[in-house]
Amino acid sequence: MTVYAIIGGTGLTQLQGLTITAALNIDTPFGAPSAPVLRGEYAGREVLFLARHGHPHRIPPHQVNYRANLWALKEAGAQAIVAVNAVGGIHMAMGTGHFCVPHQIIDYTSGREHTYFAGELEHVTHIDFSHPYDEALRSKLCQALAAERCEFSSHGVYGATQGPRLETVAEIARMERDGCDIVGMTGMPEAVLARELTLPYACLSLVVNPAAGKSNELITMAQIEQALVEGMDKVKAVLARVLSA
Ligand code: HPA
Repeated sequence: MTVYAIIGGTGLTQLQGLTITAALNIDTPFGAPSAPVLRGEYAGREVLFLARHGHPHRIPPHQVNYRANLWALKEAGAQAIVAVNAVGGIHMAMGTGHFCVPHQIIDYTSGREHTYFAGELEHVTHIDFSHPYDEALRSKLCQALAAERCEFSSHGVYGATQGPRLETVAEIARMERDGCDIVGMTGMPEAVLARELTLPYACLSLVVNPAAGKSNELITMAQIEQALVEGMDKVKAVLARVLSA
């Protein structure tokens, strides 16, 4: 059976209901991951869990060591990755509390360590990244969301921004013209590093605020935190279904 790894984002620094059997401190050629990789049992299945921002939450999105995180998960035995992330909603359908399982991504980040193919290479490699997410895993997530009666979109374009600041109204308007439906700060380079390691990867994105300019109010952390609290039970139920499917 496939060993899944869950990467928990903001609001999911620990997975309640996970029976931890080991906390692995894995050193990688790229440094230390955000936290120990937890091995345990969740919904009757062996699973790995990593808190993307550390536990407690302390590493901002632009300073996450994505290369170490993905490498450590692979080393711990992960065979597929479900990444959870909080996002802002751009498309009208992406209201607060809505879930999206993105099928495409546009990378607006800069200056992040975004590849394993760097340094002294024997030959240059260009991996195919036409379809950044694993279709089978996306479909499992969608089935679980439907079974849990969550409001969700089975497709969407994720715009990955650098952060840690939120975007300007003009930036979101540009992203909308580009075709982005949701905006977040952690989608890249996580997705491409998983692909470079040949790990099937998909995202479960929870909308926690309207993106800049998409409501009449300013975006507050209180608003984001409230939406996270309200959405996390559903996230956990969806993950449990994916694992036990
Ligand atoms: N923009 C970028 N990242 C985010 C947002 C947002 O509005 N909300 C949650 N993560």
